[in-house]
Parts: sequence; structure tokens; C-alpha cells
Amino acid sequence: MEITLVAAMDQRRVIGRTSGGGIPWKLPVEAALFRDYCRGKVVLVGRVTYLEMIGWFERVGAHPLVLSTKKLSERICTIGHPAEIPEAAYAIHPDCREVVVAGGGRTYAATLSMATRMLLTEVRGSFQGDVNFPEFEEQDWTVVRKTHYPRNLENSSGFTVIERVRSLHSPH
Ligand SMILES: NC(=O)c1ccc[n+]([C@@H]2O[C@H](COP(=O)([O-])OP(=O)(O)OC[C@H]3O[C@@H](n4cnc5c(N)ncnc54)[C@H](OP(=O)(O)O)[C@@H]3O)[C@@H](O)[C@H]2O)c1
Repeated sequence: MEITLVAAMDQRRVIGRTSGGGIPWKLPVEAALFRDYCRGKVVLVGRVTYLEMIGWFERVGAHPLVLSTKKLSERICTIGHPAEIPEAAYAIHPDCREVVVAGGGRTYAATLSMATRMLLTEVRGSFQGDVNFPEFEEQDWTVVRKTHYPRNLENSSGFTVIERVRSLHSPH
């Protein structure tokens, strides 16, 4: 099963902020790429991000799976450990081939070692925030695609989407 980490970060790896919550930029084109990527898939999020995104999964036709040591509700599939991802994903979708990990910081850190792909958006500029994407060894990954999006009337910053797959020699 493919496990794909999907995140957007600034040039200092900032992905969000704990006080005030949320993502510190507004990039509608990037948000649309993310939404389209998640549609129909099982999407793992940490409890904090799930509560920030409540209602979003239903709107885009994604299947949420929440990482939490607490039971949120009977209706929400929850796992207490990342090792439970495959079993939970097959229970949600018997022919599931890919789980998207959509944050936040602690959830990316907890799943990085299991990830087989990463789809990371690098937003140009520096933003206020205290939640970061975890450090990773560039040598463990092979860049297979890089797409640049310019700053324009819609997007207040330019950004680059970089797709990486785990390299064959990596210790994964
Ligand atoms: N820029 C982006 O691409 C992006 C994407 C998503 C989110 N974000 C931002 O990220 C921020 C939230 O990130 P965050 O790190 O504070 O929270 P988070 O990862 O969304 O959720 C943290 C919670 O996940 C559970 N968890 C995490 N690791 C676990 C493990 N190994 N085992 C069991 N449970 C685990 C815990 O839940 P319990 O406490 O219930 O046990 C923990 O409190 C927000 O600002 C959000 O906007 C940014």
C-alpha cells in the first residue's frame, strides 16, 4: 500500500500555527490540487487537524481516518498508532491502494518512516507559525516531478510542488 505524505510548507518548513490555528497562507490553486488529490481516498489526519477540517472530508468525498489516543465518536474511524494504518484503511475501503497523510506536524513525524511517497508544496516566503514539517534525509528520496506555479492574482505567493518517491537504497 502506498503511503503518501501531502503537505505545504514555507521555506523554513512552517506548515501551521498553534495559536489562532490553521495554515498561514491562502493559495486557492494549491488548495484545489490538494482537494483533487484526496477525493475518493482514505486520508489520515491527526486529531488537531481533523477538528480544524471538520466537514471538509464529506464535501470532497474523502474518507477520514484519525490518529488519536482518544475515541472521538462512533462514526469516525480512529487509530491509536500509525502501524494500524493498513488494517484501518482496508476496513474503510477494501481495495484501498493509497493512504494520504494530510498532517499536521506530529502526524507527519509519526508516519514519515512508513511513507513511500511525498507530495510537498514549497511556498515561497516566510510565514508566522510554530508547526513544522519534519526534517528528512534528501538522499532517501528521488524527485520524480517538480511543477512551478507563479505568484498571480489568485495566489499571493508562488509555489512549487515536488513529488518524491522513496529511493530503492533507503533503509525503509
Ligand atoms: N500546511 C499543511 O500542509 C498542513 C496540513 C495539515 C495540518 N496543518 C497544520 O498543522 C497544525 C496541527 O498539527 P499538530 O502537530 O499540532 O497536530 P496533528 O498532527 O494534526 O494532531 C496531533 C494529534 O494527533 C495524535 N497523534 C499524533 N501522533 C500520534 C502518535 N504517534 N500516536 C498516537 N496519536 C498521535 C494525538 O492526538 P491525541 O492528543 O488525541 O492523542 C495528537 O495530539 C495546524 O496548524 C494545521 O493547520 C498544516
